[in-house]
Amino acid sequence: MTNADQRPCVAVLASGGGTNLQALIDAAQDPAFPARIGLVLTNMPGAYCLDRAKAAGIPGAVVDHRDYADRPTFEAAVDLTLRDYGAEFVCLAGFMRILTEGFVRAWHDRMLNIHPSLLPKYKGLHTHRRALEAGDDVHGCTVHLVRPELDDGPLILQAEVPVLPGDTEETLQQRVLSREHVIFPQALALVTAGRVEVSGSETRIDGEPGPLRLSWAGE
Ligand code: GAR
Repeated sequence: MTNADQRPCVAVLASGGGTNLQALIDAAQDPAFPARIGLVLTNMPGAYCLDRAKAAGIPGAVVDHRDYADRPTFEAAVDLTLRDYGAEFVCLAGFMRILTEGFVRAWHDRMLNIHPSLLPKYKGLHTHRRALEAGDDVHGCTVHLVRPELDDGPLILQAEVPVLPGDTEETLQQRVLSREHVIFPQALALVTAGRVEVSGSETRIDGEPGPLRLSWAGE
């Protein structure tokens, strides 16, 4: 398929509702954004992220992990699909599959993940509950480049939110999610515009030590 839009192609991998996907789609609709969303790939048939892709005129693909004998063969199918669509960058936007080292290495420094905590705190699941249980007064989210270890890799951008008296997992999750929608497109723009330099586990953004950190600016 020819595409008049010459910006680099980003594939978004999602497993669910895809509100982060929507934020990326909306940001990339501005022609000044340095990349385009050219594919939405999910492992979950019927996931709402596919409806979002369709509404935006973006191709959607399903690679159902249950159709594959093991992780490497599933990932080979994902990788083939990404390359078929000419993806140059990958965003993991709530993609709830652990990726093997081979796949991660193939997309080294070209794959971004959003995680709902201020990494390196609270890798893995239930981040909001864990922040509440720890009595933290600040929580947040992180966009980072993906490395083989879970929720690990050079940090690009973080946003802080306060933990407020009376917060539940749900209210805190919503506050963090609203900031995810801000930082994911910003981080993708930085990476695709070549403004992020990576050296080992460190980043420099426009020459300054990363990650950039946005503090809370209110709801
Ligand atoms: C987001 O909160 C994202 O940070 C999280 O899944 C949610 C997906 O929401 N990802 C992870 O926990 C990965 N470790 P969305 O489908 O509405 O974008």
